[in-house]
Parts: sequence; structure tokens; C-alpha cells
Amino acid sequence: MPRIGSLNLKSRVYVPPMAGVTDIVFRNIIRRIDPNCLLSTEMVSSRALLHRGENRIMDLAPDEHPIGIQIFGHEPEIMAEAAQRAQRRGANFIDINMGCPVPKITKGKDGCALMREPDLAREIIATVKSAVDIPVTVKFRLGWDDTSRNAVEFGEMAEDAGVSMVTVHGRTRQQLYSGKADWDFIAKVKKALSVPVFGNGDVFSPEDAVRLLEITGCDGVAVARGSLGNPWVIPRITAFIETGRLPPEADDVERLAVGFRHCLGLVLYKGERIGTSESRRHLTHYTKGMSGGAPFRNRLTQVGTVTDALNVMADLAEHIAGPEGRQRFLNAVENDYTSYCSTLTETTTAGKDLLLSMTPCSEVRTDSQTIAVATV
Ligand SMILES: Cc1cc2nc3c(=O)[nH]c(=O)nc-3n(C[C@H](O)[C@H](O)[C@H](O)COP(=O)(O)O)c2cc1C
Repeated sequence: MPRIGSLNLKSRVYVPPMAGVTDIVFRNIIRRIDPNCLLSTEMVSSRALLHRGENRIMDLAPDEHPIGIQIFGHEPEIMAEAAQRAQRRGANFIDINMGCPVPKITKGKDGCALMREPDLAREIIATVKSAVDIPVTVKFRLGWDDTSRNAVEFGEMAEDAGVSMVTVHGRTRQQLYSGKADWDFIAKVKKALSVPVFGNGDVFSPEDAVRLLEITGCDGVAVARGSLGNPWVIPRITAFIETGRLPPEADDVERLAVGFRHCLGLVLYKGERIGTSESRRHLTHYTKGMSGGAPFRNRLTQVGTVTDALNVMADLAEHIAGPEGRQRFLNAVENDYTSYCSTLTETTTAGKDLLLSMTPCSEVRTDSQTIAVATV
């Protein structure tokens, strides 16, 4: 198994940072399904931390290790301070974002813009590295554009500056998410470095993951979009890498139950308005590909409350698997509810504060019965 500096990994699969996605609720879903994969928070702005001091993005639960906190910015001292905060919050490693292509980020010198400023990138890595005791990693792309694919030299620089692992997304900043990830180019980075390299880009299935590992020779694989609405792909990838066998996929009713747990978690953590609104796109992912699901998915894009979501999903469970499917879904929701609330509240480092910040969802009601009358 790969090691990130002093950190021994139990898995070659990584769910890398996704802003607006890899929050504590999403990670809780992943962790319950895969106890070993590597996790990361969403990216945290080092500059914002300077002004506000704390950020809920850095809330970690004790059961989600190994986990990194990803920071972004371009001022070495400010990045070092952010890294120290992240270390205090319990991160196992600090990941530095040098791959984000979004103009809002790159128009300063943040994210992928640092691939055009390797000297500054080196200084950031070295300053962060000397400010913390935990390993430092960096995530980057192939380069800024096709005429400047410098991922190999950039990786060498990062290794020389002290990183313990790199994650390489096989696209340039100019490509954003278009075209295909170039795994052959990731292979060149892997070949040039001694530290572990995680290959990233366009892995949506266990077969993709194994192919990426074969082509690149990478130590591990990072799976971002492929895990949306499909946390089961992570242990399936692990099993396929390790045994060559494919565990069965989750059935539709189970997918719905976990999708609803995700929605409920977001509502508990972020309040009903934001939680429900953020849930909509997750629910679209969880229900993707379900036979006859389109009208239900359409309804899910409009739900305004957690109860609305529950009702639509119960209807969909019935559409797919009859009254028994509906009942199985509702039973799973009911069982989950109590255990989920207590997991979230007992285990987060923010503890009581987190509990206080949750909006109680006092009643989750379906047309046919009241589920989990619960106030947190
Ligand atoms: C919604 C979304 C948000 C993302 N946010 C981040 C981020 O905060 N930091 C980062 O390094 N990469 C971020 N990424 C990039 C992913 O980590 C990953 O590199 C990219 O999606 C390619 O991998 P995939 O093909 O497995 O999705 C984000 C991607 C998506 C889709």
C-alpha cells in the first residue's frame, strides 16, 4: 500500500476534493460504505481563514481518517498559517490546490495559475512544509494549456520542495473538463517521481480504475465525479483492484435510501433551505439511470423541503419495486434516522457547536405515515 510520508494508507483509492460536494455529510456517506479510502475536504481559502479564523469546511469527524484538508492561495506565509490551522483541526495531511481551473481562482495566482509560477509554487510548498509536522501533498493538472504541459517538471519541483504525494488530473487548465483525461501523460509524471502519484480523471467504474493504474503505473487512483450519487463505486474499485472480482452494485431501493440519508444529513448540517437546495443535484445523481425515473428526477429538482424529497423518493421506490420497495425504503430511512443523527452529533470535532447549529427537522412525514418524529 502507498504511504504518504509517515501516513500508511489502507487503500489505493482516493476521493479527492470537490468544492460544494466533499463536505462532512458527503464524506460520512462514503466512510460508512468504505472505511479505508483516502478522503479530503473541499478546498479552503487560506486568505478567508486569515480574516475569519475558522471555517466549517475544516470540520472533521473522528471516524473519517485518513483525511486531508485542502488549502488554496498563493501567499506562502498565509498558506503556512492555514496549514497550521488545518493540522490543529486534525488533518492527516495538507493538500495544496494547484489545479483548480476556475477563473475566479486563477485570476489571482491561485489554483492552476501556480503551474505558470513554479518558483512561487516551490516557495509555497517549502514554507507550508516547514510550518507543519504532517505530510504535505499537492494536486495539479497537466499544465496550463497544450503548449505548456509542464506536469513532469512541476511534479519534480514539488517533490524536490518536499511533498509526500501528488495527485495529477490528466487535463490542462484550458480544457477544464472537456476532452478526455490523458492517462499516458500521467504515466510520464509517475515515471519521473519517487513519491506516490495518484492518477486522476475520468474514472467512473472499477474497470476504468484498473485501466488507469495499468496505463499510468500510478500508486493510486483519485475518483471524483464517479463517486457522485455512487459511493459504492469506491469499495467496488478497491475490490476489483485487489481481487479482480466485482462485487454487486447497490440495488435501486438502497441507492434511494442512502440518497435520502445524504439529503437529511445536509438538512441537519446546513439547515433546511440550504440543505434541501444542495440536495437536489445529489439526488439527481443517486437516481440516475433508474428505469422510469425521469419524471421523479424532475420532481426532485424542485423539492423545497426534506419531506417533499422523502415523498418523491418513496414514490420512486414504489414505482421501481412496488409497495414492498416503498416499505423497504421507508424502513431504511427510519432506521437510519436515529443512528445518523447521533453519529453526526457525537463524532464531529465541532461537537456541541455543530449540534446547536443544526436546524431541527421536527418531522419527516410521508403521505402514508410519519417517519422519525425527531427533534435534534
Ligand atoms: C464539483 C467539483 C468540484 C471540484 N472542486 C475541487 C477542489 O476544490 N479542489 C481540487 O483540487 N479539485 C476539485 N475538483 C476536481 C476533482 O478533484 C478532480 O480532479 C476532477 O473532477 C477530475 O476527476 P474525475 O474525472 O474523477 O471527476 C472538483 C471537481 C468537481 C466536479
